[in-house]
Amino acid sequence: MSIPVLTIDGPSGAGKGTVSRLLAKKLGWHYLDSGSIYRSLAIALIKQAVDLNNVIEIVKVAQAMVLEFECGDDLIVKLNGENISAQLGLENIGNTASIIAAQPEVRRVLLQKQQDFRQLPGLVADGRDMGTVVFPDAEYKVFLTASSSTRATRRYKQLKEKGIDANLIGLTKEIEERDRRDSERATAPLSMASGALFIDSSDMTIDAVIDDVLNTFLKDFILAQH
Ligand code: DC
Repeated sequence: MSIPVLTIDGPSGAGKGTVSRLLAKKLGWHYLDSGSIYRSLAIALIKQAVDLNNVIEIVKVAQAMVLEFECGDDLIVKLNGENISAQLGLENIGNTASIIAAQPEVRRVLLQKQQDFRQLPGLVADGRDMGTVVFPDAEYKVFLTASSSTRATRRYKQLKEKGIDANLIGLTKEIEERDRRDSERATAPLSMASGALFIDSSDMTIDAVIDDVLNTFLKDFILAQH
């Protein structure tokens, strides 16, 4: 029997993380935040002062890094034994992750680390290429997006709530630049997998997005659990 996978791909800030975590909890499935793997590599490279143009060195660091994930209410990630959770969400880490993610050799090394998350009873996987490259045979696929201004405003609010100074115009520019880089790269660009459910969350609540996914794909599964 193949292990069920629900893939949720889309641009940054579309709500994939929150939606995926809540869906994994409701279904009792494992959760893969694939962006955090690219972000962890970005942190490792910055710590080791690796030149981001040196693909051979980047690949060596990617092969050597040991990652541990603890998925409770908050995701805890340890890189070579050190808790790096607090640094994962920083804007410069996301941007560095997006730059190194454009390298096909880097994606190849990280592929198996992501596929290893596919374990019983099932997996919710969030990223850019979950339904197209990492789990092409997934039974359930979603493409979750929102307008760039909505995504920038959400990010702005999140940063303000954390007491971090932010600039809405700057954030919108960064989001659009990251969308362009992630969508135009030659290897595994952000794109909608064929047969995926398309959801634009610009004017939707998180609960409405979750209901949409469950009603489309997993109604029977949830009913059977109760
Ligand atoms: O989802 P995120 O913002 O944490 O991802 C950070 C960057 O990592 C994103 O801009 C591109 C890259 N990434 C990727 O190329 N493929 C994935 N499956 C997930 C993330």
